[in-house]
Amino acid sequence: MTKLWGGRFQKSAEQWVDEFGASISFDQKLVMEDLEGSTAHVKMLAACNILSQEEGDQILSGLEKLKVKAQAGELEFSTANEDIHLNLEKFLIDEIGPVGGKLHTARSRNDQVATDMHLYLKNRVKEIIEAIQAFQSAIVEQAEAHVETVVPGYTHLQRAQPISFGHHLMTYFWMLQRDKERLSESMKRIDLSPLGAGAMSGTTFPIDREMSADLLGFSGVYQNSLDAVSDRDFILEFLSNASMLMMHMSRFAEEIILWSSEEFRFIELDDTFSTGSSIMPQKKNPDMAELIRGKTGRVYGNLFGLLTTLKGLPLAYNKDLQEDKEGMFDTVHTLMGSLPIFEGMVRTMTVRTDSMEKAVHSDFSNATELADYLAAKGLPFREAHEVTGKLVFTCIQRGYYLKDLPLAELQEASPLIEDDIYGVLLPKTAVARRNSLGGTGFDQVHYQLGLAKQLIG
Ligand code: ARG
Repeated sequence: MTKLWGGRFQKSAEQWVDEFGASISFDQKLVMEDLEGSTAHVKMLAACNILSQEEGDQILSGLEKLKVKAQAGELEFSTANEDIHLNLEKFLIDEIGPVGGKLHTARSRNDQVATDMHLYLKNRVKEIIEAIQAFQSAIVEQAEAHVETVVPGYTHLQRAQPISFGHHLMTYFWMLQRDKERLSESMKRIDLSPLGAGAMSGTTFPIDREMSADLLGFSGVYQNSLDAVSDRDFILEFLSNASMLMMHMSRFAEEIILWSSEEFRFIELDDTFSTGSSIMPQKKNPDMAELIRGKTGRVYGNLFGLLTTLKGLPLAYNKDLQEDKEGMFDTVHTLMGSLPIFEGMVRTMTVRTDSMEKAVHSDFSNATELADYLAAKGLPFREAHEVTGKLVFTCIQRGYYLKDLPLAELQEASPLIEDDIYGVLLPKTAVARRNSLGGTGFDQVHYQLGLAKQLIG
């Protein structure tokens, strides 16, 4: 089959070579964006009298027919036509005859493909932001139900201080909030039109780049034609934002996995989000959380793949840039799969308040309360720390907790201790009293939830 660019060639490449160079197997995902880009381009060409009105109309009606066929899945793409751009151009010429060949006036596949990618990412990033927001609302819902559920808080994965479970969950809300902000802020750079940059240097035709940008809903145009066709920073930025988002989900997934273990028993995942074992009948595995944690690796890989592809490229377009697509598609697919799964998992999980209650009553996470109590009575904090540490040691030796020590013994350690200490040592009191701004105190968590709800509307 002759190529659309076959003029200067004496023989055609062998099929296996064509197959290696072709991108149609994956860039067919851009079919609607490519048709949209072509539609705007033709309208602009006709408005600028580069094509006659009649030619413009003929091409537009051909493109319309292709859109209908594309939506119905009726276009049979072929590797011989290399990529989505040449496949569609060939279909157009088959549909409306040689006038279809005028579509590519004042355009190159280099500005065309870049336009498609900008259009594609612009829409996907909006969808991803919505999916993050839905996930955040599930977090808020659980957090609100568990403001007063007290759990051990950890540092170094060692029990540290008791906290509100709602406060713990809300940490992920704020991570996701930053992810959303980063994605929205990146929109400024995604929302630019490279169309009209031509192969690299612009065009001799009197085109109107602002008009085609407007028609496509872009808020601006690239100011340098070489930059327009060689820039993939907007994809890198997306992959980097996606990596951070996956990292956040992966940390959360790790906690979900720990919490649903027998060792913690803090939550139970709904059956829908768990799987069994083919051999061990008792098993209920948090597979979905594990898979999200696992998929984080491929998203990082996609970021590193593209960073590496780009690092040695001279200006402007190089075929290497065709490698920008699969990692981006894969990342979009991974995010759009992971976010709703995580949302569902959080919305439907059962929080085992009984195990949490048991946990906070059988540890030393209230030791800071005793030290603070002494410090509030004037003992230098360093000494209060020492007194408390010694009492903790005594307890460990006897298999006690601080609340089990008789008052006389506590007073022997420090005469400042009175019998109100037992109330202070209660985990719930400990949490309630941490009322500093952004702290785990119940009032603070309610305040935080109020702010969060405003942010997600
Ligand atoms: N399939 C190509 C890509 O994805 C389209 C641009 C090809 N341009 C070229 N000069 N060969 O990058």
